[in-house]
Amino acid sequence: MKRFFPTLAGICLLCAAAAAQPQLGKDSIQQIVKAMTAEEKALLVVGANMDEGPWKGQILSGTGGITCALDKYGIPYTVMMDGPVGIRLYDYNTTCFPTGLLTAASWDKEAAYRIGEAIGEESIAMGNDVILAPGMNILRNPLNGRNFEYFAEDPVLTGLIAAAYINGVQSKGVGTSAKHFAANSQETNRLDGDSRLDTRTLREIYTKAFELCLRDSDPWTVMASYNYLNGEYTQESYDLLTKILRNDFGYKGLVVTDWTGKRNTPKQLHAGSDLFMGGSPKQTAHILESLENGSLKMEDLDRAATKVLELIVKTPSFKGNRPSLKIDMEAGAKTAREVAGDGMVLLKNDGALPASPAKTALFGVYSYDLIQGGNGAAWVNSPHVVSLAEGLQNAGFTLDGDLAELYKGYDAFITQDVKNNHKINVHVGVAQKPELEITRPLIERSAKDNDLAVITIGRISGEGRDRIMDREFLLQKNELALIEDVCKAYHAAGKKVVLVLNICSPVETASWKEKPDAILCAWLPGQEGGDAIADVLTGKVNPSGRLPMTFPNDYFDAEGAENFPYNFISDRANESVVHPERRGLPLKNIAYTDYSEGIYVGYRYFNTNNKAVSYPFGYGLSYTSFEYSSPSVKLRGNDIVASVTVTNTGSVAGREAVGLYISAPLGSFSDKPSVELKEFGKTRLLQPGESETLSFTVPVRQLASFNSAASRWETAKGGYRAYFGANALEPAAEAAFRIGSAKTYKVSRACEPAN
Ligand code: GLC
Repeated sequence: MKRFFPTLAGICLLCAAAAAQPQLGKDSIQQIVKAMTAEEKALLVVGANMDEGPWKGQILSGTGGITCALDKYGIPYTVMMDGPVGIRLYDYNTTCFPTGLLTAASWDKEAAYRIGEAIGEESIAMGNDVILAPGMNILRNPLNGRNFEYFAEDPVLTGLIAAAYINGVQSKGVGTSAKHFAANSQETNRLDGDSRLDTRTLREIYTKAFELCLRDSDPWTVMASYNYLNGEYTQESYDLLTKILRNDFGYKGLVVTDWTGKRNTPKQLHAGSDLFMGGSPKQTAHILESLENGSLKMEDLDRAATKVLELIVKTPSFKGNRPSLKIDMEAGAKTAREVAGDGMVLLKNDGALPASPAKTALFGVYSYDLIQGGNGAAWVNSPHVVSLAEGLQNAGFTLDGDLAELYKGYDAFITQDVKNNHKINVHVGVAQKPELEITRPLIERSAKDNDLAVITIGRISGEGRDRIMDREFLLQKNELALIEDVCKAYHAAGKKVVLVLNICSPVETASWKEKPDAILCAWLPGQEGGDAIADVLTGKVNPSGRLPMTFPNDYFDAEGAENFPYNFISDRANESVVHPERRGLPLKNIAYTDYSEGIYVGYRYFNTNNKAVSYPFGYGLSYTSFEYSSPSVKLRGNDIVASVTVTNTGSVAGREAVGLYISAPLGSFSDKPSVELKEFGKTRLLQPGESETLSFTVPVRQLASFNSAASRWETAKGGYRAYFGANALEPAAEAAFRIGSAKTYKVSRACEPAN
């Protein structure tokens, strides 16, 4: 093939042509968009093919997506990597941090910030520009497969922890993606399921978390979710993406679509979607066709192209960052271990904890194979995972060798069909392991040889599939038998039993929690989990976590529990697209899901209806005790300012999480939750006898309820009560205050139900 040798004149012409083009970073973005052709704009707003083009071979496997380079204007390609608990790469190790649920359980904005910072640093090392995190959907139901990577059943705890995480990442010059906007609270049929909820519910719960997150942080991107919302795809919803997100919340950043190409591209652009990920040539072509046939206005495409360029100029890649591929694993491990200890929740302690190093019988497959995190976009290829066995040994415990051998030979015990059966339900990551049966004689023998028994119960879940109530929320027969037999044998020998929950989301606890002497909820604590659990069990770390989600007595106790695919048993690993009508499946909870509970999610339902639960939202024990004093709430301009003093009245140092709950008069509403969390904080480590005063500022607007008919927020006139403490059912202090006149806050037309 004749090769082209550019003449000097030719090179000069090319340089002159290139030089004539406006350059990103030198010329204004407006000038560049003006100079771009429609084809170039269409390329820029659609994710590029990572396996083709000048970047081929440079993109690390596991990367979520890249934006297209346009050298002509000095526009580099930029990189977006998953995920919330660490960077997900298949060929490189990165730190697996504690999952979102644990971070929220810390009730510690500083902890969330630290994880964000650490992921920001690792992003720079790996050449990442935007981490596709935080996942911040509301935990509507304990069976959602992605609960582990999200934060809480409450929008304030969710939104403010998310904001702290975002600020941490972005403090390193790396972007984030607040996801998935909005009402994406189940994995079954997530690409085409219709979340049906009224406007008050949408505003007070499902977009409220994003509203508060955007008030306290400025994520470079917001990710529009897959699902329908009241009959309209969120990615195509002008009401949601422009009227609410941009006009009401004042969001100025970029909206990136979650990874589907099967939407109406011009409708998405008009709605406010700016960047189409993962991206396909069909979408680029569809944009150009739509311009041709007039169904897409150039101004919508120009807006999107502008947003993409505004994002690119902020990125490390644009600023010349090149991946070193060297991560400070020690620093990551230190952060992971410390935050993990900060978010574990002590549910029960009848004197078994803190425990000194002892001869210990360790039961449960997950004692030897800790679940560090969940599956899918949030999966992380960590350098190691510290099991509880290792963590206890590192802390000086002597483990029962026979038991350890038995569990380590575990795979030899489970049959192939069990392995196969459990393999299918995995999108990316690992399958749930069935528990190993241990005979009573062996348990009784171990009770003679050991001083302490520790049992781990594990649950894993992930993207693309929800959990099944009777298999995954309920404990299985062999798990219940293990707890029963071990407790019986050890109690007969006058010894204690500690149970550790290594879980992705709440499980049933009421039927068995009386048996063990202590219960620690360790969640999915990241790669250093075993050491972090040992830190708490030995008292090196005084547990200070508080539940971010209610543990109900029975799955069906929650309002709306039947409006979830709780018994949808699938033969597929990834149930993103189900087509119930083609597969003869019910439409309810698959083709559509009614959020029939409305705003009464979690404690809003249980507390308001005085419904008993196993462990309430905000519950958690400590090895010390605290007393509250001088609670005060004052109106100051458009804010309420509250404060309370917390004193450590126990014998060991500890931290106390404090929630500020408000009970409001009904005003023009027929119903309101009995209390709602409006702010929270956490003391520093208080030595015995030490005190700290925590202060909270809450805009009066945040005390409002949403009047859908009038499309406005309304704060009622009258007497309010403020409750201080993480567990709203047992407030440690309270104070009354009044709001002298009703206030209203008009918003642009809300996202009214399409039907
Ligand atoms: C997935 C997830 C999203 C993730 C993206 C890129 O489908 O829903 O959370 O960031 O695709 O992997």
